[in-house]
Amino acid sequence: MEKVGFIFDLDGVIVDTAKYHYLAWRKLANELGFEFSEEQNELFKGVSRKRCLEILLDIGEINATQEQFDSWMIGKNLDYLAYIEKMDANEILPDVPRVLDFLKKKNVPIALGSASKNARPILEKVNLISYFDSIVDGNSVTKAKPDPEVFLIAANNLGVNASSCVVFEDAVAGIQAANRAKMTSVGIGESNILDEAAYNFKDFTEISNSFLEFLLNNNQNK
Ligand code: BG6
Ligand code: MG
Repeated sequence: MEKVGFIFDLDGVIVDTAKYHYLAWRKLANELGFEFSEEQNELFKGVSRKRCLEILLDIGEINATQEQFDSWMIGKNLDYLAYIEKMDANEILPDVPRVLDFLKKKNVPIALGSASKNARPILEKVNLISYFDSIVDGNSVTKAKPDPEVFLIAANNLGVNASSCVVFEDAVAGIQAANRAKMTSVGIGESNILDEAAYNFKDFTEISNSFLEFLLNNNQNK
């Protein structure tokens, strides 16, 4: 029987950091003289920091020199870091610890597959880092989601076949990356947005231990 691996995205799946990314991008937009809405922030989910700034500047119709681009990217991250500095275990999304505990007790290998370069400090702050056998983040990849690279590296690190992995994602690009890697994609969030996922749930409170068991058995037999 194949070994099964579970891979979790970070932002919007384990912790609700999308709000902090939003506040930091909105501050920059306002400084540059334009508005940035929460709806527009949807486009930023799962997207690398550099690509987010490119999209933001398109929205504001701003042409930047390389120097300005670099300094705005650094400034946004400093603002974001100031927000996450205060994070603690209270900001873990509902039922995430129950799911991680369930998998850990069954010795299922667990990886993080995130576009964020801040993944490690966040996992440390919320005290979940010890659950992860491998952490693949924005520092380890060359190609952004929807490219499957991040998840393929995670599967390789876990020593599990890609087709025997389950991925939890809140971003359209992340679901597409998981599907391209031939993994089982589970959407966390709005099912109408994440309609390419194999399964959809509002959050982990809707994912029972018996469904996790089903995912384990289903992927074992692949
Ligand atoms: C993703 C977020 O997880 O990480 C994106 O969904 C974010 O919104 C990206 O832009 C990069 O994050 P960071 O922490 O490296 O700026
Ligand atoms: Mg995400």
